[in-house]
Amino acid sequence: MTFTTTPSIVLAQRVQSARPSATKEMTRLANQMAREGRSVITLSQGEPDFPTPLHVRDAAKAAIDRNESRYTDVAGTVALREAVVRKFERDNGLSFEVDQIQVGCGAKQVLYNALQATLDPGDEVVIPTPAWVSYPEMVRLAGGEPVIVRCSAQSGFKLLPAQLEAAITPRTKWLMLNSPSNPSGAVYSAEELRALAEVLDRHPHVWIMADDIYEMIRYDATPFATPAAISPQLASRTLTINGVSKAFAMTGWRVGFGAGPTALIKAMNLIQSQSTSHTSSISQAAAVAALDGPMDFLPTFVQAFQRRRDAVVSALNGVAGLRCDVPPGAFYAFPDCRELLGRRDPQGKVLATDADLAQFILREVAVAVVPGSAFELPGHFRVSYAASDDQLNDAMTRIASACASLR
Ligand SMILES: Cc1ncc(COP(=O)(O)O)c(C=O)c1O
Repeated sequence: MTFTTTPSIVLAQRVQSARPSATKEMTRLANQMAREGRSVITLSQGEPDFPTPLHVRDAAKAAIDRNESRYTDVAGTVALREAVVRKFERDNGLSFEVDQIQVGCGAKQVLYNALQATLDPGDEVVIPTPAWVSYPEMVRLAGGEPVIVRCSAQSGFKLLPAQLEAAITPRTKWLMLNSPSNPSGAVYSAEELRALAEVLDRHPHVWIMADDIYEMIRYDATPFATPAAISPQLASRTLTINGVSKAFAMTGWRVGFGAGPTALIKAMNLIQSQSTSHTSSISQAAAVAALDGPMDFLPTFVQAFQRRRDAVVSALNGVAGLRCDVPPGAFYAFPDCRELLGRRDPQGKVLATDADLAQFILREVAVAVVPGSAFELPGHFRVSYAASDDQLNDAMTRIASACASLR
């Protein structure tokens, strides 16, 4: 059959109001340049460069050999949900029943399911920023309204109780909190969470979505704190989200999980049952081995990240026009580049925004970073230091020479 004209599809409003992932876009451009033969260093993607631990890979192979290749329960296999229950008990002092757990295709799908299951048009979600690029877009795709609250470097990029109080309205459904944070690396202490919990105590219609995906990647001795464990009142309206992607270098396996009140999890299961059904049965078997298995590889991971963090932050601070705080968690540096904005590149083009600067760095010296505006905090950019020491050294030299060429 031949068409004389190309029919054009009319896209849904909700798609038109959402933006594609900026991190994936920078990575796509970097990959395209690499295919064209440039030696590109991609520091735009948030994934550990370590291999998945051997015992986890072995567990997946064993699951294949046992022919665990059938559909599983929508919420995840009972074996995995039991392992998740043990993880929350062991690491966070939280007690859940198996039917309070949902396993999804990454923490991302669990967040997505929760928003789809709870937001009506006009419902508001408070998002302290800088925040992961996907939060506002997922809220929009669910018909809700992101309420962006900008947190400054002075507060360590953390939400202050007064800011939370001011952002809450009768339409507020959720507060999304991510600690350690992508992109700032900020980590909330128990006291800071308690102060936010006091505000939430006065607004019982607001629920809290705690994204703890970087829990294991922290560099100081402050114990990890999560909202549900801080305040028993808050626990009954908290969804705690975590997964194996970051701690176990398993981004591609697509396993994340959420734990919360049964009625919420049930609604999230309904959403998931009509979309992906569940994540791969083999990945779920691997995740059981990850959660129940030895964690002795983790200090080596974290030490390597810390060494890279220190090198990257010190290199960035050595570049005139950049200023970078030392992030206490996750694997990103988030330098302030406002001093460089308004300068001209060697071709005479003015770099007015952080996006212009990130594109210039990619074009000029082939290093992919992500502009801070993608994380709702313009005037910064994000560098993922989950890359090899050699790549990071090379990338920092290139960024320094690109910035030095601005006039
Ligand atoms: C803050 C945050 N939450 C969730 C995710 C998603 O993790 P997953 O790979 O488990 O979907 C990411 C991934 O980059 C992230 O940075």
